Amino acid sequence: MRHLADQVVLVVGATGGIGRAVVERLKGTGATLVLAARSGDRLQQLAATLSGERNVQSHPCDITQPDQVVQLMQAIREQHGRLDVLINAAGAGLLKPYAKITPTELEQMLALNLKGCFYTTQQAAELMKEHQQGHICTVVGILGKHSMAMGAAYCAAKFGVVGFSKCMAEELKRYGIKFSLFYFGGVDTPFWDGVSLKVDRQKLLQPDAAAALIQAALETDRHAVPLELSLMPDSHVFF
Ligand SMILES: NC(=O)c1ccc[n+]([C@@H]2O[C@H](COP(=O)([O-])OP(=O)(O)OC[C@H]3O[C@@H](n4cnc5c(N)ncnc54)[C@H](OP(=O)(O)O)[C@@H]3O)[C@@H](O)[C@H]2O)c1
Repeated sequence: MRHLADQVVLVVGATGGIGRAVVERLKGTGATLVLAARSGDRLQQLAATLSGERNVQSHPCDITQPDQVVQLMQAIREQHGRLDVLINAAGAGLLKPYAKITPTELEQMLALNLKGCFYTTQQAAELMKEHQQGHICTVVGILGKHSMAMGAAYCAAKFGVVGFSKCMAEELKRYGIKFSLFYFGGVDTPFWDGVSLKVDRQKLLQPDAAAALIQAALETDRHAVPLELSLMPDSHVFF
């Protein structure tokens, strides 16, 4: 089992439902946690709940802005000298009929869920390369693998995330950098507040179930690579 003590772990989307559950799980591991999202206030509130932790820092960052992503990685390099783990858990949902998706909505989906994730992964990998090791965990979602009516814009972004991640993983394996992709079905988080599709939230996965799988992937043997992991609520199972 790999121990996370003294590892530097960046959680992007740390204040979200899944990101926060990951932070809760990792807080006792001895890892240094770097928390990122746009809202500095919410990051501060989260960091305050972790006040007993030795090493927690927060950095507001809008991942749709490549220069802010570069600044985030520079701050990590200056403060910690390294980055061992990236958790990509920032994103937003859009589920509506393809004909009603506006150009602005498509742009927003691609800017955050695809390009923002690309910039973050790209810049984190450059930092990890300096120490010839790293683990990039990306919360894709099952709609990065399966299609769904009303998912056209969201799936376009998420299928793209899988595409670039697998290409980068090929390029980066010789630097000891591994990728894990997580395909979760619906998770009960604020993500669903902004989605017009009605879902029975009581039947969704709990965020801690998602976070537990991410933690297990991080703590697996250091020579093992958990490539693609799916987790579905029992009300909505398909292969
Ligand atoms: N919930 C689900 O059912 C589900 C299932 C499968 C996959 N996923 C994926 O899992 C990821 C996390 O989802 P979630 O359910 O945890 O969503 P959430 O609760 O809505 O959290 C979203 C997080 O992303 C951050 N964020 C949003 N825009 C950002 C930006 N431009 N730059 C930096 N951070 C940004 C938010 O903080 P700020 O607003 O402060 O920036 C927040 O921390 C997303 O990629 C989502 O597609 C979700």
